[in-house]
Amino acid sequence: MTAKQQKYTDLVKQIDAVLEGETDTTLKMVTINCILYQAFADWSWTGFYRVKNDALIVGPYQGTLGCLHIPFEKGVCGKCARTLETQVVEDVHALEQGTEHIACDPNSQSEIVIPVFNNNYDLIAVFDVDSTKKAAFDSTDKYFLEELLKNHFTEAPLS
Ligand code: SME
Repeated sequence: MTAKQQKYTDLVKQIDAVLEGETDTTLKMVTINCILYQAFADWSWTGFYRVKNDALIVGPYQGTLGCLHIPFEKGVCGKCARTLETQVVEDVHALEQGTEHIACDPNSQSEIVIPVFNNNYDLIAVFDVDSTKKAAFDSTDKYFLEELLKNHFTEAPLS
């Protein structure tokens, strides 16, 4: 197992233990953000955008002020919500600004966005992580973040 895989394995165990038996959505989102944000020195922004009326609104996060509203048509988060697939961007500056990428965090160089489903397979949120390093995210981040986010949310999208 690589050092990064070991780190994620430990973090997932810690999050699962802290959240055992918890049902409140905000509590769970805040806890996941806090534990992950503290664990990676180059992560400058972590947060949930929640699905509401076929658009995204900012939810619990850590970092600089996040965009409040993101339409499904825009940005990396919007693409994740449209395609229902994790988006990994090695260099956010290589994307067209305002359409393919929305620059909320000025320190961001690379980004990963993971879809968050409930147990009905409805999309309820996306989880966005920004890094100050280029190409910070790879298949290990994708695998562990997808696994982590699979197991915690049962609620319906906001209405
Ligand atoms: N960069 C995202 C917007 C959210 S901020 O990074 C916090 C995007 O392009 O969807």
